[in-house]
Amino acid sequence: MPHHKKNTVQDNLLPPSESRRSAVDARIPAYAGTGTAAAPPPSGRRERAQWLATELERHNVLYHTLDSPEINDEHYDLLFRELVSLEQRFPELQTPWSPTLRVGGAPLENLEKDAHTQQMYSLDNVFSVEEWREFVERMRRAAPRISPAFWCDPKLDGLALELVYENGVLTKALTRGDGHTGEVVTATARAIRSVPLRLLGQSRFPMLLEVRGEVVIFKKDFVALNARQAAAGEKVFANPRNAAAGALRRLDTTGLLPLRFLAYSLGSVVWGNDPPCAFHHELMQRLAAWGFATPPAGKLCDCPQKVEDYARTAQHDRKGLPMETDGIVAKLDNFADQRRLGFTARAPRFAVAFKFPTEQVETLLTGIEVQVGRTGVLTPVALLRPVAVGGVIVSRATLHNEDEIRARDIRIGDSVIVRRAGDVIPKVIGPVLAKRPPEAKEFVFPRSCPACGESVARDPHETAWRCGNLSCPAVRRERIIHFVSKAGLDIQGIGRKWIEQLWDAGLVRSPADLFAMTVEELKHFERMGQKLADNFTQALDTAKNNATLTKLVNALGIRHVGEQTARTLAKNFRNLDELAAADTVVLQPLPDIGPEVAESVVNFFANPANKEEIARLRDLGISPQGDAEPHPAGQTHFLCGKSVLFTGTLSISRAHAQALAESAGAVAASGISKKLDCLIAGENPGGKLVKAQQLGVTILDEKAFMALVTKDV
Ligand code: IVH
Repeated sequence: MPHHKKNTVQDNLLPPSESRRSAVDARIPAYAGTGTAAAPPPSGRRERAQWLATELERHNVLYHTLDSPEINDEHYDLLFRELVSLEQRFPELQTPWSPTLRVGGAPLENLEKDAHTQQMYSLDNVFSVEEWREFVERMRRAAPRISPAFWCDPKLDGLALELVYENGVLTKALTRGDGHTGEVVTATARAIRSVPLRLLGQSRFPMLLEVRGEVVIFKKDFVALNARQAAAGEKVFANPRNAAAGALRRLDTTGLLPLRFLAYSLGSVVWGNDPPCAFHHELMQRLAAWGFATPPAGKLCDCPQKVEDYARTAQHDRKGLPMETDGIVAKLDNFADQRRLGFTARAPRFAVAFKFPTEQVETLLTGIEVQVGRTGVLTPVALLRPVAVGGVIVSRATLHNEDEIRARDIRIGDSVIVRRAGDVIPKVIGPVLAKRPPEAKEFVFPRSCPACGESVARDPHETAWRCGNLSCPAVRRERIIHFVSKAGLDIQGIGRKWIEQLWDAGLVRSPADLFAMTVEELKHFERMGQKLADNFTQALDTAKNNATLTKLVNALGIRHVGEQTARTLAKNFRNLDELAAADTVVLQPLPDIGPEVAESVVNFFANPANKEEIARLRDLGISPQGDAEPHPAGQTHFLCGKSVLFTGTLSISRAHAQALAESAGAVAASGISKKLDCLIAGENPGGKLVKAQQLGVTILDEKAFMALVTKDV
């Protein structure tokens, strides 16, 4: 554990570091027996192990969250090794929050997936003060009585992570994944020192607490990491975000990169006996008190104008922050107002990312290439003299379409301005006319498909030229690439490069061909070998087993059918055959499906080549049942194995409520006692409620209970 001082940036709400530290000190769970930091440590085996675990965690918080270590690395390692050795000899001494769990085991083959109890949303962006004002206006129109105070903090350029705490103990960590389902990375998360293994504090913790935040690598750690990688002849990472992504998903937690977790919001929470937070600023204080590091320089701005000031200052100060940021996030402070505004399919209506102006550079446009996409659209791509912008080297950028090139008067040989923001695709803004050489050449858009030679057509209402050849090789290849991509079945380790090679070798002509390949066929393939061929087929098997109808429908790449529509279709049909048989009369009444989408779906399934492909996929074992989703409260639901008791009148029948609880894995209790995990109280609850309060049993009202068991994952 390297000891280096962090640059702390003070925020204006949390107490200054000394008083914050003593506030946290008071909450660091003290060892209950004799031998605190001051008194001599205990000598009994069990007491010693508990003392070591408590002390080590205290030092973790002091070092990683509070920036004020009390002991050096050697001392820490000594205590750590003693605890490891004790736990190895007496495994019953290992608690679920033991700091020894922070060291991971061997790398895992494949990451398990699990559903988020609440969707992990993305954020909408605004790029200017004007757009920010429009966002506020929209919010005011939607909910005129909201109070326009915002919690602001920097937008961290890392990876979103959700940590699940049950009664204060970390039990699971999930990546964002597609927002609905994430990858289980509990072991990696435990190895991140700034992730509390149990919450600080002595009071009762929320029964369920999902803390969301960002995994980042500090800039200085990134520089050191790349220096080490280079010295060892290993891959150098393009930016901290890529390095963090690799580390988090790699699962080889031994020698883990210097990842850090910064908490900024919540997923599901059942407060139990802990008083709920009503404001975002209150939540940030609570997160810090529980032992989480939070984004630096967070601030409560009591009006939209102050958010503009905050954004300006943040942009000015960004170089001084320890981590990469690409903007600020402004979130409505009042949780009741947040609930009032709710979410779109993609993002909250109560929060927005206010992006810093993007980086622009100048470089040479050496040529223009035309690519054919999976829908047959021809896209011109700028070939650039390689240049660094926004943290990566860019040598290609989109030029969108023929009209764009003409409108901006972009010519081959021009010096052009290229812009890139965050992970957005680089874009050519326009030429530097003053530098145009006399030989600069206008680009003539091709009238035939560069892949198949068929003539291309342009719909009068569209800007794009399109190749309409159903068997155009480029279209077919791009469709396979889409099929294996994250938007499709998300087949690990198989991406554009491999598909292009397999395609060029003539081995694969459709997604079904991929699944039909054997290790024998694969291993003799160029640059493949036994190990990679094994991984390959294993990844295909995993994808096959994990395929849901939503993913498969999305993977097929039906025109106008994106993720959201795929989800709607999967909710309404039991399998692909049923969907294939649906006509527009059945499809059109479904949410988000208009005449154009309905017709596109019907056409897709009427096409004989598509029919054949679907039949082949079915024969290969890819025929997922409709996502009449497994009950959201699956095996890992926090009610699983808990005893519950109902009292008072609920708006649904007691039998129905009981059934919901049981399908979440709960067990019905016969009466009230200290052993009861949870009392669900309806209207006019009476004596049981009082008794439960006296015994300190967790109490849920009907709304909280229903939210928990009927969540739409
Ligand atoms: S709050 C309801 N605060 O950026 C979503 N998100 O590009 C509330 N992010 O999905 C999220 N820094 O993963 C929040 N200070 C910050 C953030 C932040 C980075 C991530 C987050 C979000 C993504 C959108």
